[in-house]
This record gives sequence, structure tokens and C-alpha cells, in this order.
Amino acid sequence: MRVGNRVAVLAAIVAGLLALPALGQPVVIKFSHVVAPDTPKGKAAARFEELAERYTDGAVDVQVFPNSQLYKDKEELEALQLGAVQMLAPSLAKFGPLGVPDFEVFDLPFIFRDYQALHAVTMGPVGKDLLARLEDKGITGLAYWDNGFKIMSANRPLRMPADFRGLRMRIQASRVLEAQMAALGAVPQVMAFSEVEQALRAGLVDGAENTPSNMYTQGMNAVQPYATISNHGYLGYAVIVNSKFWDELPDDLRAALERAMAEATDYGNSIAKGENDAALAAMRAAGTTEFHELTETERAAWMAALLPVQDAMADRIGAGTLAAVRAASGG
Ligand code: LMR
Repeated sequence: MRVGNRVAVLAAIVAGLLALPALGQPVVIKFSHVVAPDTPKGKAAARFEELAERYTDGAVDVQVFPNSQLYKDKEELEALQLGAVQMLAPSLAKFGPLGVPDFEVFDLPFIFRDYQALHAVTMGPVGKDLLARLEDKGITGLAYWDNGFKIMSANRPLRMPADFRGLRMRIQASRVLEAQMAALGAVPQVMAFSEVEQALRAGLVDGAENTPSNMYTQGMNAVQPYATISNHGYLGYAVIVNSKFWDELPDDLRAALERAMAEATDYGNSIAKGENDAALAAMRAAGTTEFHELTETERAAWMAALLPVQDAMADRIGAGTLAAVRAASGG
């Protein structure tokens, strides 16, 4: 081997060694997310950290960064693809900009009656097939984590669809959510989660939709005098990893992490509804927001305004995906 070649080979070996953890050092998994630790996602992530470290005897060090400490919504997906973080749990509404709008099926208004109908999708073959569509993007989907059903909030009461007319409503970056707000006559405004409370406070937007847990843990109730418990749509997550990172892990570590993920998923999904119920109770007790439950007549008017969004977005989501989700959930 010529000296120049030998140097090149040595340099490649050193570079390879530098990329691996030093002998005895744990493999680090940076897990970035945008919500508070005290939420269904925050608690499931903490449980995964604990179990992953236990089941690998400390060979893996999971570092959870909550509250957009590392990255905001859009940046975190870029960071995952670049390998700057290894694990995320973005909401299902945030995969469109990545080129996988299929997940926006979960954003459709009134698509799931309850958690049971949702789980028929996320825990079955339809959910698995959707996760597999991320592989093309260098991303592996590991699990679905629940948050819950959304409520609408604003600086004025929201009883009938006409009450939304002209309101600037913050949404996640989902075309389905854009269509939903437009169907109500509102003006949808895409905004990163970390900016919502301030934007509401400053009057840059008039309202928002979110789960009670997200609303409460960001203090949005302090700046939203009215909210309607509409449960008109679902908000949940896909836990995802950088495929290259995941595939290159030693088999025994990957198996231990899969076990930790399965248990963290069961735990997170078992507490999600309770966390949201507790957050709603806490916001009621705080007294800064007047909560309204839809009457039957109001609910019928919301459904009349919003159900057409389902078929209108079939092309965006994929007619096959929409049909499969409807069939699995009994919708
Ligand atoms: C939002 O942006 O409102 C949510 O996706 C935040 C989250 O991760 O629950």
C-alpha cells in the first residue's frame, strides 16, 4: 500500500472511531420535544429514559430536552434527519412539511369518536403501515403516544361556527387544520408551539386549539378568557428515530430499547386521559377561562360545518389512507 493510501485508511479508521462512543462510554440518545415535562408526552419520555437506562444497564444514556429547549417544531425534524438528535415525538400534524401528509388523517375533525376508535388505528395494521411510510425519509417510527382531544379557546365565546368568523386562530403546520379553521370562517395562522402563549398574550392571534394538558402547562388559560370543550379533533404523537442511528445499534441494545419503548408507550397512553381531565379541572379552578360545553344543537352545527373537511382533504391525505382509517375506527 502506498504511504498516501495508508494515511487515508488510517484517517478513515480514526474518523470511524471518533463517531463511536469511546470504550465504556454510553450511547447517547438526545430526545427533544416541545411540551412541558408535566404532560402525557413529557411523562412518557421520562419513563422511557428511566427504562432504557435500566434495561441496557447504563449502556444507553437518554437525555430528554423538553419545552423546545433544543429545537422548535420545524427545526427538530431537520435536526433528527441530520443526526443532531436521535429521537423525537412530534405531533402527527407536523409530518406534512417533511413530505408525509398522510398523517394529517389524524387531524381530521370528528374522525375519531373516542380513544378506543383511535387506538383501533394506532395499535393496528393501519397505524403500522403509516409509520412505515417514514422510512423513505431516513426516519423509523417506533410508537404512537396519546395526548388527547382538543378544545377551542379564544378571546370571545365560541358557541356556533359563526362565532369564529374572522378570528385569527393558531394552528400547527397541517393543511387539514388550515382547512378546518377556514371551514369555520376563521383565519388560520401556523405558528410553532413555543410561541403560542406569547402570541395570544400579545394579541397577535385571537385563539387556538389544543388539548387541556398543553393549554394548561403553557399557561394559555391565563390569556384565553373563553374555551369550548368541543373535542372536535385529536392530538397525538409518533415517536421517531433517525434510521441510520437505530439500524447501527448493536442488536441487544436495540432490543432493550424496544422493550423500554413498549412499556413507556403503555404507561403514557394509560395516563393521557387522566392528565387531560386533571388539566381541565385545574383550569376551571384557576378561574381565568370560562368553559362552555357544546349543546346538542351547537354540536350539530359544528359537525355540519366541519365534516365536509374530511372528504375535501382526501386527495391530500390519500383516499386509500382515509378509507382505511375510517374502516379501522368504525367511522
Ligand atoms: C402543538 O404544536 O400544539 C402540539 O403539537 C404540541 C405538542 O407537541 O403536543
